[in-house]
Amino acid sequence: MNKISIIGAGRVGESTAQILAQRGMCHEVVLLDVREGAAAGAALDIRQSAAFHGFDTRVVGGSDPALLKDSGLVIVTAGSPRKPGMSRSDVLDVNRAVIDSVVDQVLENAPDSLLLLVTNPVDVLTLHAWQRTGWERNRVFGQAGVLDAARMASFMAEETGLSVKDIQTMVIGGHGDSMVPLTRFSTINGVPASTFLTPETIQRINARTQHGGAEVLELRQNSSAYNGPAAAIATMVEAICNNSARVLPSVCILDGEYGQHDIPAGVPAILGNKGIEKVIELPLDDTERAGLQASIDSIKADL
Ligand code: 2OP
Repeated sequence: MNKISIIGAGRVGESTAQILAQRGMCHEVVLLDVREGAAAGAALDIRQSAAFHGFDTRVVGGSDPALLKDSGLVIVTAGSPRKPGMSRSDVLDVNRAVIDSVVDQVLENAPDSLLLLVTNPVDVLTLHAWQRTGWERNRVFGQAGVLDAARMASFMAEETGLSVKDIQTMVIGGHGDSMVPLTRFSTINGVPASTFLTPETIQRINARTQHGGAEVLELRQNSSAYNGPAAAIATMVEAICNNSARVLPSVCILDGEYGQHDIPAGVPAILGNKGIEKVIELPLDDTERAGLQASIDSIKADL
């Protein structure tokens, strides 16, 4: 891919730009922010790390939406972050307005791009952005499940003492407290994860996964997570740039899958250079299906 733009030069946007530049995933990374200096300064700082990391990626920052021109992918991290004690839904109204203006800039400057939403509440805002673009649903999707599943894997590694490198996990539903960590679809190098876990441990892992973002925010007080989110975004970007058909939990606008129509939810999907290539329907049992329905109901409450 030639050019990737990131709207929002906060911590998530900046960390993402650094990873994309460092991994040489595209020729040019743009950081766009209404705060001109924040974007330009972050881009300059990243460029000054190029000699250490050995990358030639062009990194540009500013506030002019024309910088988005010819982007193949636009990542949206802009918006008001939540404060300790707030839910992701508490920032919905203010961030819906941010997304409206961002989508309009994308429509004008990068009408052929893919749109990856990160701003919270990400499920609702992915639907909102998709509706405003009028694009095919595969081109507008969100990041949540890659991060939530990585959190689940990290807690599983802590609980079992086993290498996180061997742990594959799956989390579906909304990116909120009712998300559904799926132990039955998680393995430790092919061995069912439940082999290594007691029911109490599973419960502990699931609860920490569901509150993974809040736990970081409670500790830091003045910042949400950004290292994990940026790495999760980069994982999705790599799948898109390499057209690698990875199966990654992504916020998709469902088109009949899981019995839902035009509803956004985190589900496993095949991700490639056209965006969401296919939603995978998991054979859920009754409890898992009920969990997913409850989580989707909580998304619908915000629509
Ligand atoms: C998180 O889960 C902020 O939603 C983001 O950390």
